[in-house]
Amino acid sequence: MAWQPYEILDKTENTENIYKIIVLGDGFVGKTAITVRFCENQFKDEYIMTIGVNFGTKKFRYKGTSYTLQIWDIAGQERFGAFRTSYYSAAVGVILVYDVTNKLTFLDLPNWTCEFQQLIGTKPVVVVGNKLDLPDSGQVDSRTGRPYEKQVGFKEGKCFADSINATFLETSAKGNYNIDNMFTALVDSVDEKLFSNMLNVNSFNSIDLGFNKLYSLVSGNDVSKIYDSLMMLKHSIFQQNPYSVVLGNINEWINYLPKAPYTSEVSSLLLKSMDVWQQYYEQSLKEGEAVSSRI
Ligand code: GTP
Repeated sequence: MAWQPYEILDKTENTENIYKIIVLGDGFVGKTAITVRFCENQFKDEYIMTIGVNFGTKKFRYKGTSYTLQIWDIAGQERFGAFRTSYYSAAVGVILVYDVTNKLTFLDLPNWTCEFQQLIGTKPVVVVGNKLDLPDSGQVDSRTGRPYEKQVGFKEGKCFADSINATFLETSAKGNYNIDNMFTALVDSVDEKLFSNMLNVNSFNSIDLGFNKLYSLVSGNDVSKIYDSLMMLKHSIFQQNPYSVVLGNINEWINYLPKAPYTSEVSSLLLKSMDVWQQYYEQSLKEGEAVSSRI
């Protein structure tokens, strides 16, 4: 089996994160094929038009965190427009697909972007030029009667993706090319966005993580140095604790951080601080109230 950037988990396992992903694009571009390739590692040449929506689910561990992706492959044909949009809600990320051999499907991407943005706002997106195997296949395109040719160049695809702040990949569901990368790239963007939305350095040398207050740890505004360490801790914090958190001793951090590029020592200090937080948290559970304290 080809190398995968994640470890597949059993379907019965509970995961730390459950992400709803929607797959959008014109009819016949390969949305179902991409979903089926990712979830079941299969590909079928015949076309069965999606009516309404298909679902795929996959559970895996990636970069130390477990995920369930619920993939909603939504009918691309114009005629399903009226009820299509009802499936968009609560999606945390979007795969936007066109067919590299059909320019019209690429030209429709701005419409798809407008449609989902109006309904669910700006979300992490991966733009995907699918059917990359076809241009060199020697097969004849029944629309033109000539061999398939690439009608959308890599640069063009990338340029559009950049314009909406999205990641860009060319893929082949048939050849299983970049399919895993497409979904892990989206997971990366969703994680990053969830985190950075909540990350807001204020003037008190503290980090405010939205409704979770993670105080201390930062000297000045040098967030980048500890960003990765915080990413590492993010799940343990967010997944377990809906309230407020205090980590560590601020004096220790202020003395330490200016000298340190971010290193494993930074991470280990953060982890030590987690013990402190854990005690607060367990205590709060006992008392039936949220922890809300500052150093
Ligand atoms: P709708 O259900 O109408 O929205 O279409 P869709 O976007 O889900 O397309 P679907 O996955 O059903 O694929 C349409 C056709 O393209 C099928 O015949 C697939 O076998 C074929 N196809 C999909 N992906 C690829 C690919 O990467 N390479 C090749 N050669 N064919 C593909």
